[in-house]
Parts: sequence; C-alpha cells; structure tokens
Amino acid sequence: MDSKSTSLDFAIIGHQESWQSITSFINGIRNASIEPLPVDKIKDVFGFMPPRDLFKITLKSKTGNEVNGVFIETFIDPDKLSARYLKTNISKVKKAISLASKLNAKLATLGGFTSIVLEGSRNEFKDISIKLTTGNTLTAGFILKGIEHACVQYDIRLEESNVLIIGATGDIGLACTHYLKQKVSTLLLNARNQRRLETLATSLRNEGVNVFCDTNLESLVPKADIIIAVASSKDILIGNTKNNVIICDAGYPKNLENRLLKKEDIILFHGGMGIINYGYTFSPNYKPFFYNYPVDNVAHGCVLEAVILAFEKKYENYSVGKGNITPEAISNIYQWALKHGVELAPFYNSKGLCKLFNTKV
Ligand SMILES: NC(=O)c1ccc[n+]([C@@H]2O[C@H](COP(=O)([O-])OP(=O)(O)OC[C@H]3O[C@@H](n4cnc5c(N)ncnc54)[C@H](OP(=O)(O)O)[C@@H]3O)[C@@H](O)[C@H]2O)c1
Repeated sequence: MDSKSTSLDFAIIGHQESWQSITSFINGIRNASIEPLPVDKIKDVFGFMPPRDLFKITLKSKTGNEVNGVFIETFIDPDKLSARYLKTNISKVKKAISLASKLNAKLATLGGFTSIVLEGSRNEFKDISIKLTTGNTLTAGFILKGIEHACVQYDIRLEESNVLIIGATGDIGLACTHYLKQKVSTLLLNARNQRRLETLATSLRNEGVNVFCDTNLESLVPKADIIIAVASSKDILIGNTKNNVIICDAGYPKNLENRLLKKEDIILFHGGMGIINYGYTFSPNYKPFFYNYPVDNVAHGCVLEAVILAFEKKYENYSVGKGNITPEAISNIYQWALKHGVELAPFYNSKGLCKLFNTKV
C-alpha cells in the first residue's frame, strides 16, 4: 500500500484468527498466475514479517459523513497467542502503533488480542500524539445487545436467567458482569485465577448480586441458560449444557464454537459484531480474500469503535485497559453507533446465519 498518506481518521491494528484465513488472504492478493503458496511455506515466514499497512478503508455514516482508515497487520502467529509469547507479541503491537503514528492516524484501535499492550504499557505511549483505544467498550455493547435481542428472539426472560460469563475477570468480561449484575437472576462467573474471581464475586455479593464463581467450568455450565464466552483461550472444552442454551462466543479466536461436546439444542452466535449500513469499502479491494462473514458489511466491535469515534470526531483514549468500562460508556458508544447507521450484526456462526433451536452449530 502507498504509505505516504495525509492524515487518516483511524488505524486498525489487527491479527489473524487462523492459518486458514491467512492462507486465503495471502494467496488471494498474490498474482493469480503464480502457484498458490502452501500453508507450511506461509507458516515459515509469516511470524517474521514486521507490521505493515495492508489496505485503506472508507466508511460512510447515515449522516453523510465519511471517514478513512488503514488496516495494519501485526503478523502475530495465530498459534502463539499464549503468555509464553507475550514479549514478542507486545513488541509487534508496539511497532504497529509506531507505524500508525507515522501514517498520521489520529486514533488507533487495538483489535482482538493486540489490546494487551494497554494492560501494562500505556505510559510508554504518553509522548506520541496518536490516541489509543482497545475497542472493548463497543465490543461489550454488541455482546450485551446481542444477548438482549436473543432473549426477545428466542422468548427467554433475561431477569429469570442464569448467565455464565467465561473470562469474567477480563476487560470485556468485567464490562458484561457489571452491565448484567442487576438484570439477571444469577451470575455464574468463571476464569482460571481463583483469587481474582473470588475478589470479584465478594464485591458483587456486597452489592446484593446473586453470584456463584468457580474456576471449574463444568460445575457452572449445567446451571447456565445463557453463556457469554470472552476468554482469551482456545483450550476450553464444555459439555453438559442445558437444552436450548444461548451461547454468545465473542472470543477471537473463537473460544467455544469447536469445543462443545454437546452440539444439539444450542444456539451459538459470534458476539461483539456490528453491521455497517451506509458504506464500507477497502482499497485495494481485498474484501474477497480478507472478509469471510455470511452477510455483507459486518465488522468486529473493536474495529467499529474507532470508526464511531471518528464519525463523532472524538479522537480520544476511549477504552483504556482492564476494568475501566462503565455501563454508561457502553450505552454512549452504542447510541452513537446507531446514529451513524451501525447496528448489531445478525446472528451467525461458522455455518452461516443462525436458525431456530434444534439446529446443530
Ligand atoms: N468480537 C470482538 O469484536 C472482540 C473485540 C475485542 C476482543 N475480542 C476477544 O475477546 C476476548 C476477551 O478479550 P479481553 O480484552 O477481555 O481479554 P482479557 O482482558 O485478557 O481477559 C481474558 C479473560 O479470560 C480469562 N481466561 C483466559 N484463559 C481462560 C481459560 N482457559 N478458561 C477460563 N478463563 C480464561 C482470563 O482470566 P484468567 O487468566 O484468570 O483465566 C480473563 O478473565 C479475547 O479473545 C479477544 O480477542 C473480541
């Protein structure tokens, strides 16, 4: 891509979810007359590539405004998202932020896993002019509105439901917990670190919230009517779900979709996603290789947070790291999104648009 851009409204700093998406993208943008590269060859070099701007993005608002951004790929290896590779990955994200700054982006959103740099390194960025946001507030907004819509669509009373949050002590998990604490019958909270989980549960009990927490997921799953999965993990395996359970899998990569022992009488949708109704274009047009959703114009909440802030001309550090997302901030950004014609995406999973109960995921 031509990097000599004038000021950009936003940059999206991202990483890929799987080797399948990486292979399709890399072979798609190469000259069609060249033999496609096999995944093994791609794996040999991918993780060694420095962050790079790949394409520009233009979005239009319902109000007629237009914003321009750039997608910066970090080239983080999708098999190396665990704590073991933290140092290398943080270094890649920092390089991507420097590139966004060099490209004169006013705001950068740290998509999916890349938000880790704001957990501990915010001070390192205090001297650069670019504003940084994790995108987790609008992501939480789409997850929670998704749950509320699913309850209406599938005739479930949220206030009578037991809601399990997997990854409850994380940034998005905490946002969901605090938003739902007065709206559900019981909160069931899960994460691996017992001390953090107990501290959260105790503070909620002190507010009068009905809450159970356990690091052992299997003790919570059979009680759950609704499950929100927002853990940074591909290692979770669950069985013993209630019939007709609603699962919002918002992990990136997905937490549960391929990890369910029971596959029937479940509605599983990919959560945290929005749909852009007034224009979404890529230049060069890499959409056919980069975009793999069953409906047009869908994007992650973390990406759309930067877009909505740009539409609003609020170039600010909106989502700043773990534990700071308030229900009010969720409500504000969700309302701004609607004002600009960006709405909750239709329910879908890797098999396509969601159907009624009794369909397999
Ligand atoms: N859909 C979207 O638009 C979107 C946008 C942004 C982020 N995301 C995704 O959302 C997920 C959460 O993001 P975040 O920023 O909230 O992450 P985070 O702050 O790192 O929180 C992760 C949470 O998951 C827990 N966890 C990790 N491994 C677990 C396991 N095996 N079992 C149970 N809990 C586990 C962690 O606690 P312990 O360490 O104690 O287990 C923590 O509570 C990530 O997958 C991210 O990529 C999606």
